[in-house]
Amino acid sequence: MILVTGGCGFIGSAFILDWLAQGGEPVLNLDLLTYAGHLGNLRAVESDPRYRFVHGDIADGTRVAALLGEHRPRAIVHFAAESHVDRSIAGPQAFIHTNVVGTTRLLQAAHEHWSRLPPGEAQAFRFLNVSTDEVFGSLGASEPAFTEAHPYQPNSPYSASKASADHFARAWCHTFGLPVITTNCSNNYGPRQFPEKLIPLTIHNALAGQPLPVYGDGLQVRDWLHVGDHCAALRAVLERGRPGETYNIGGRAERTNLEVVHTICGVIDEARPGRTHAELIRHVGDRRGHDRRYAIDGSKIARELGWQPAVAFEQGIRDTVQWYLANAGWVESVTSGAYRRWVEQQYPALNAAA
Ligand code: NAD
Ligand code: TYD
Repeated sequence: MILVTGGCGFIGSAFILDWLAQGGEPVLNLDLLTYAGHLGNLRAVESDPRYRFVHGDIADGTRVAALLGEHRPRAIVHFAAESHVDRSIAGPQAFIHTNVVGTTRLLQAAHEHWSRLPPGEAQAFRFLNVSTDEVFGSLGASEPAFTEAHPYQPNSPYSASKASADHFARAWCHTFGLPVITTNCSNNYGPRQFPEKLIPLTIHNALAGQPLPVYGDGLQVRDWLHVGDHCAALRAVLERGRPGETYNIGGRAERTNLEVVHTICGVIDEARPGRTHAELIRHVGDRRGHDRRYAIDGSKIARELGWQPAVAFEQGIRDTVQWYLANAGWVESVTSGAYRRWVEQQYPALNAAA
């Protein structure tokens, strides 16, 4: 079996659903169910005998050690994190707790578990540390995309906490021999993404006829990766990746934020005729320390593991909008009072104008 951390979040749940659909071995999902974690994301596999959920904190080393001793996973796929840059600016401490302390506790427990395995199992064991391209910092418009050799230059509390986790993951591999692989992926999008990140927020607000907040000039660039492509890449890394290596995973879809928002509006104009949704775009104050551009050079994973993205951005956006249209109940269930309070706090200019 495998242990997945943070499996109730956006990418972790996509990974588990995909893993079990592909006939993968049993999954134990350890998740704290923060505001970003939803049991409903895994409703489809709730009664699958291969799936088990445990409510808990990755920073609880004793608990994690007991789970590893009891279930003896052959791999850990580590998604659990505080993942939203804006929240890391509003309150960095939770990011240090989960992303730094939590990851190191998990590494320590994994190391103790791994050192007790018989040699064959120890050799096959993998700790897959899911990280982000944001650890590399910000690129200028004409600079080449991030390779795995790009220096770490994190700029936000979120990316600094992920960079810190990556350094510890590297150290556990180098010092203790734990077979760690780190992946650095670009911005994901797709079904079940919590509507605080750009794409689901834009879809959610456009469907509700609410303003679409664009920070600053909206010309910041991200490289968009469909979550289904990301899951396929992670499976390839788990199967064929080399311990001690890092792999960049990108979507080959660099777009400015304004292009992204306009693409979504175009799709929603077709689905909900009668209004031009781009009229809802509002430029609001810029994010503090806003990184201008991220871009991934994915040649290493293509060359070594034969993986490349398959979903074209425009099609991926169409499918994602369709998913949100068909799953209004999911959106309703995750946009509670706490969500509304976050939106009020994060977008005061929009609330004042409303
Ligand atoms: P998410 O915020 O949707 O989900 C995070 C999950 O982790 C939630 O289910 C939450 O309950 C759980 N969690 C948080 N703290 C925990 C703790 N202390 N113990 C156990 N569980 C805890 O995040 P996501 O978008 O699915 O991202 C998954 C991983 O991928 C993260 O490590 C993130 O840094 C990385 N990543 C995400 C993106 C992206 O675009 N979403 C891009 C690059 C990298
Ligand atoms: P986000 O989805 O938060 O991902 P990240 O900050 O990890 O890249 O943001 C993507 C881009 O969209 C980023 O440049 C910030 C911008 N953005 C807006 O312009 N408006 C918004 O309301 C949000 C949430 C993000």
